Amino acid sequence: MRIPLLLGITFASLPLVLQAGPWCYDSQGPKCGPSHWKEIMPTCGGENQSPINIDRWKAQWDKDLDEILFEGYDQAPPGRWRLLNDGHTVVLNLDGASAAEQINITRGGLHDTYRALQFHFHWGDLNRNGSEHTFDGIQYPMELHIVHINAKYKTLSEAKGHPNGLAVLGFLCKVSDADNTNYNTIVAGLKNISQADSYVELASTFSLSNLLPDMALLSKYYRYKGSLTTPTCDEVVTWTVFEEPIPLSKSQINAFIKTLYFKKLDTTSRMINNFRPVQPLRSRKVFASRDATISCCSPLAPSFFVPLFLYVLAGLFSGPS
Ligand SMILES: *[C@@H]1O[C@H](CO)[C@@H](O)[C@H](O)[C@H]1NC(C)=O
Ligand SMILES: *[C@@H]1O[C@H](CO)[C@@H](O)[C@H](O)[C@H]1NC(C)=O
Ligand SMILES: *[C@@H]1O[C@H](CO)[C@@H](O)[C@H](O)[C@H]1NC(C)=O
Ligand SMILES: [Zn+2]
Repeated sequence: MRIPLLLGITFASLPLVLQAGPWCYDSQGPKCGPSHWKEIMPTCGGENQSPINIDRWKAQWDKDLDEILFEGYDQAPPGRWRLLNDGHTVVLNLDGASAAEQINITRGGLHDTYRALQFHFHWGDLNRNGSEHTFDGIQYPMELHIVHINAKYKTLSEAKGHPNGLAVLGFLCKVSDADNTNYNTIVAGLKNISQADSYVELASTFSLSNLLPDMALLSKYYRYKGSLTTPTCDEVVTWTVFEEPIPLSKSQINAFIKTLYFKKLDTTSRMINNFRPVQPLRSRKVFASRDATISCCSPLAPSFFVPLFLYVLAGLFSGPS
């Protein structure tokens, strides 16, 4: 009896190892949290993982990082949007909407067009910030990710097979005194999706740019090559993290923290601290867009100091006359 039983266990556990398996955040249980993801999925222990700390003293200015062209970001697509509690986060799938082909990004040092697939959030708890990326070691209260797929690829699994498969836009959130009314639809929908696997049809769609900081400030960003921040942690993501944070009021941030649960029919596991800690940068570099702030060499340098230098030089050569 013993041997067949053992065999049964071995075979039964095999598929768990081969597929992504159950993963969680430390707030759900220490045994399946981020430090264990690489046991479930070896990619998560890779060399080019996300998120990272963006050290603005070390970021390298890259003049090819010009303004990103946001297409379809300024229009509310027709139809309905479904806000889902997927057991890890709150996600809104843009794919499948009739407008899926119409929301995309290009330029900004991206060599292809990337179509928007979905957006979701990461947050902390009542006493701690919960962004995934950090700026100079500072973690922000929340982070919005808008996931895009390279338009060359048809499916997410195809894109995951190519280093240029995905582009994710990351926006940190800061606390503002007033509510950000552009988030009212999402925040109001949270109470309908407190349980895992529940969803709500939002009353209306809206333009994605409403969720973002002033578009004029989006030319300030940081760029690096990394991964998905949840298993399967595929290293196929071109990351863009914007310098300008999204303002959300304390009560809007607290709505995420207080309303949602990780599990179905289990109101003991609040969905909190659903962020992965920062990963080592290793040999990678972080690049700063033309307009972004880098602490070492002001982007003013070429435009201001070079003419000044030429002016001084011209003065020297013209000599006393
Ligand atoms: C990107 O979006 C624009 C406007 O929304 C659309 O006309 C264009 O076809 C899209 N491009 C791709 C490659 O999906
Ligand atoms: C939390 O985020 C705010 C920005 O809204 C920042 O000022 C503060 O320093 C952060 N706190 C910690 C402990 O990192
Ligand atoms: C969301 O929940 C509220 C009650 O909390 C209910 O009145 C409303 O009909 C629900 N909306 C949807 C779309 O299910
Ligand atoms: Zn994310």
